[in-house]
Amino acid sequence: MILIKSKSEIDKIRESCKIVAETLQLMKRYTKPGVTTLELDKIAEDYIRSNDASPAFKGYSQSGSFDYPGTICSSVDDEVVHGIPGNRVLNEGEIISIDVGVEKNGYFGDAALTIAVGIISDAKRKLMDVTEKSLYLGIEQAVDKNRIGDVSFAIQNYVESFGFGVVRDLCGHGCGRFLHEEPQIPNYGKKNSGTVLKNGMTLAIEPMINAGTYKVYVAEDGWTVYTADGEPSAHFEHTITIIDGNPEILTFS
Ligand code: MF3
Ligand code: CO
Repeated sequence: MILIKSKSEIDKIRESCKIVAETLQLMKRYTKPGVTTLELDKIAEDYIRSNDASPAFKGYSQSGSFDYPGTICSSVDDEVVHGIPGNRVLNEGEIISIDVGVEKNGYFGDAALTIAVGIISDAKRKLMDVTEKSLYLGIEQAVDKNRIGDVSFAIQNYVESFGFGVVRDLCGHGCGRFLHEEPQIPNYGKKNSGTVLKNGMTLAIEPMINAGTYKVYVAEDGWTVYTADGEPSAHFEHTITIIDGNPEILTFS
């Protein structure tokens, strides 16, 4: 069932989303060669808790894996998503996707971005730019009476024109009263297909785009998703709502 939110619920989701956006800005500021992903995780957790909120991913369980231990997901280069923060030191030239979820007063926000560590190659820059642009093209389609497939198609059509791979195994999702709600929002699909979008929906749209093949696998840690060919991957995500017919980005900063 897709949960339609009232204006006052959207205000609460907006509050969680604002903390998500601010945390991501902090992550941008602290991402540089020499920092570890666990240091970034600690900065994020402290910031979220200082806002009387909690990290939404910490303790999250997914069938077959241990509870997620981090505040952020930190996924470097060929790690697509769900990289677990640890002692990995970031190096110049890498790209890191950082995903943050926040719960405050029982409402959730979720967003992600990919950050360059120092100076990166033109190829990685292109991958990041195309992924970010695809997110905005998807969001543009999230209008009242359009369908999920319109969002999916806009993302896929743009990304594949550059020869990049759209990850199939993971999707965007409803987000607000729970971290993950219906509907699923694939990043590939056909125009005019799927669930009809309506005012009051709150959705996390999150293209995960690979430089090479779209194929991925999950590591033995049960969480980290890697590209099958070892090529880099990028990830951008916003939580949005549809209000007065149009999308409003709630995790904007
Ligand atoms: N944004 C990701 C998602 O929606 C983050 C989930 S991490 C998890 O799937 F630990 F919460 F699973
Ligand atoms: Co998400």
